[in-house]
Amino acid sequence: HPSLPAVVGVLTISDRATSGVYEDKSGPAIQSVLTRWIASPWEPVYRLVPDEQPLIEAALRELADDLHCALIVTTGGTGPSPRDVTPEATVAVCDRLLPGFGEQMRAVSVKTVPTAILSRQVAGTRGSSLIINLPGKPAAIEECLGAVWAAVPYCIDLIG
Ligand code: MTE
Repeated sequence: HPSLPAVVGVLTISDRATSGVYEDKSGPAIQSVLTRWIASPWEPVYRLVPDEQPLIEAALRELADDLHCALIVTTGGTGPSPRDVTPEATVAVCDRLLPGFGEQMRAVSVKTVPTAILSRQVAGTRGSSLIINLPGKPAAIEECLGAVWAAVPYCIDLIG
């Protein structure tokens, strides 16, 4: 029976949510989707950082190495604008990439949202942690995570 994560890192990457221009809705959306999907006991660890590559990398390292999150889900910073550096930060901290995750999330999303092709979202592993990028829109959370969720527990088993 494949494992579900006990500690899940939820990392929101947003200049505007960090400076208080608006409230982060995507981080809470990740937590509420996972609350519906994970039946076993688990605990979210939430972090919010601006679109700065060193800060994103530091948060990912903390969640993976210090807090031992089996799963880390990020939201935001995956687009083509100059401030969007989440994929670069993710690639920098990962040991290996899992290209199928990004491919599948975009393939499912473009069926309903043509602009989903603009997301450069990636996924990969750092030690025993699986890191998955999601776009910043609350509506993208369930669509993208749902597109790959069937493979998540098995992946966590394989890297654990
Ligand atoms: N994917 C889904 N499922 N739903 C969406 O609304 N928005 C797209 C894309 N992927 C979207 C999506 C848009 S408009 C952009 S610009 C990119 O994600 C990147 O968003 P981000 O920079 O907030 O990560």
